[in-house]
Amino acid sequence: MTKIEKIVLSYSGGLDTSIILKWLQEVYGCEVVTFTADLGQGEELEPARAKAEMSGVKDIRIVDLREEFVSDFVFPMLRANVLYEGQYLLGSSIARPLIAKRLVGIAGEVGADAIAHGATGKGNDQIRFELAINALDPSLKVIAPWRQWNIRSRTQLLEYAEKHHIPVPSDKRGEAPFSIDANLLHTSTEGKILENPAEVAPDHVYQRTVDPLDAPDAPEIITIGFEAGDPVSVNGKSMTPAALLSELNGLGGRHGVGRLDLVENRFIGMKSRGIYETPGGTILLAAHRGIESITLDRAAAHLKDEIMPRYAELIYNGFWFAPEREMLQALIDQSQAFVSGEVTVRLYKGSASVISRTSPWSLYSADLVTFEESAIAFDHHDAEGFIRLNGLRLRSWAARNGR
Ligand code: ARG
Repeated sequence: MTKIEKIVLSYSGGLDTSIILKWLQEVYGCEVVTFTADLGQGEELEPARAKAEMSGVKDIRIVDLREEFVSDFVFPMLRANVLYEGQYLLGSSIARPLIAKRLVGIAGEVGADAIAHGATGKGNDQIRFELAINALDPSLKVIAPWRQWNIRSRTQLLEYAEKHHIPVPSDKRGEAPFSIDANLLHTSTEGKILENPAEVAPDHVYQRTVDPLDAPDAPEIITIGFEAGDPVSVNGKSMTPAALLSELNGLGGRHGVGRLDLVENRFIGMKSRGIYETPGGTILLAAHRGIESITLDRAAAHLKDEIMPRYAELIYNGFWFAPEREMLQALIDQSQAFVSGEVTVRLYKGSASVISRTSPWSLYSADLVTFEESAIAFDHHDAEGFIRLNGLRLRSWAARNGR
């Protein structure tokens, strides 16, 4: 085994990473620095500090990354109207590059030569962490205990905890819990009964949205302001990126907006089924398309739609810090200069529908499109020629086919 001097561990304070911490200290016999990120997962982070202290960690980093997460990762991604496989808003995928960036930063500060993470060998997250680390500091070694140790089952994991006096909370003693990943953008739930895609997800897996069937009978109308492609206000009130997203999470959650039950294709090769709740992100996706509908040129909008699946796949597969993702981002960002204005959205029993939009930069011309007499010069004979020329090849083709 290669000698490691110092490790930075991505540490949540949960049972799995507590065991990983102990295992690292034992196997590598070196100092472990813990890093815990607040991404708006809605969990108290101080217990993580206490647990790390108890395990003898001297350098404990707990960092509030909520604003950076939303402004530098979530919003740039939403400018693309991103969806993986047509449905998934990439709530876990987009958090990984930020966590990796901070892990690399801390490794530099403390002079660590390795980074450890608790992602398992079957998932996407290990790929995302490690590709990001490769891109940001290729000299760092990666330790992925789930791929290295010989703990192969939950029972063995609990036995290891028992043996090393790691407290196991009573709700973690029985069968394996759901695998949950939460942040300001979404909650993702996988595992257990959800592993059978034929089974309907039980209601208790949902954590931040009500069942649309139980949502209020009265719709709620909200207005979102956009500035150069990014949301900046809700109902006329300016907000920071993280505050805005959490406001929309509350509003959407109450109306059952943003639930998704999905079977997706993991990069590593298998299909997996998960439940996602992305209330604020779902509202923003609809609203952003609403403001783009009046402010973007047709060809610019269609080009964005063509590259979007490619861009989404790059993020899903862990290539946030790759040159091709940055190139696509430059293209997307350039398109957003005039994407400013206000969109009104109606939240009602699971839906977020755009019902009106305005912009000082609108390309929409009522005068041009009207069925009434119009002041703008539009020669109807031009339309005739336009169709005649576009139909030229179709007429040739049909004549040949009919021969
Ligand atoms: N399958 C999702 C993705 O790859 C979520 C992964 C993390 N979620 C979890 N419940 N462990 O983006």
